Amino acid sequence: MTGPILQFEAVDRAFPLAGDRRRHVLRGVDFSLDRGTSLAMVGRSGSGKSTLLHLAAGIDQPTAGTVLLDGVRLNDLPDTERSLLRRDRVGLVFQFFHLLPHLSMLENVCLPGWVAGDSATATRARARELLDRVDLADRADDLAGKLSGGEMQRVALCRALLRRPPLLLADEPTGNLDEKAGRQVMDLLLRLSSDEGAGLLYVTHSREQAALADRVLRLRDGRLESAQS
Ligand SMILES: Nc1ncnc2c1ncn2[C@@H]1O[C@H](COP(=O)(O)OP(=O)(O)OP(=O)(O)O)[C@@H](O)[C@H]1O
Ligand SMILES: [Mg+2]
Repeated sequence: MTGPILQFEAVDRAFPLAGDRRRHVLRGVDFSLDRGTSLAMVGRSGSGKSTLLHLAAGIDQPTAGTVLLDGVRLNDLPDTERSLLRRDRVGLVFQFFHLLPHLSMLENVCLPGWVAGDSATATRARARELLDRVDLADRADDLAGKLSGGEMQRVALCRALLRRPPLLLADEPTGNLDEKAGRQVMDLLLRLSSDEGAGLLYVTHSREQAALADRVLRLRDGRLESAQS
């Protein structure tokens, strides 16, 4: 498919608060992301970055406006179809890794393939290839619960890329890592998503890491503005 992998058109998100009040988190958010390119999202705590990522993944719905994932209007889809679209087109990386500690690295990476019913042999081969690309091939059978934070996030990155999603979303992927491990994870995130031709949208509080993206956008008072990292 051609065209942007992700488009926001005049997206608003407001949350109901106690009483009749509403918290208007995003207002008129417009941007698009092409395959093979990267976009860093910055902004103060509470500025709506995670909310924006949840909308991009179709985990949450806008109050107004449209989110298109790979040209498909998420607003119009019933929950089950939205989940399927997410499963097939979106890879997610979180701050706290969310690995299953009692499974091996390889099994953690394979999980999305097993859940989707992909060929077990192809899934395993792809998982091994990815672990090799993040320098963890020789540790594939180690339990995930025993890894360092940086290693866990490299495994989580492989898991996110397993099924070749055209969109990768990462919410503060280095927020729980020290500087060295964080830089390594960030380099891999950018390199692998680019090699795979995926669009990458990541949230970060680090100027340095934001500057590594093709483009930086800042959320301020619910609105989006371009930013020089
Ligand atoms: N389900 C919800 N109900 C009510 N308010 C919410 C909900 N989800 C988020 N909010 C509010 O929306 C605002 C933005 O939250 P969000 O988590 O998107 O911020 P953020 O930019 O990711 O912050 P941080 O950098 O701390 O992670 C916050 O004020 C938060 O309290
Ligand atoms: Mg957040």
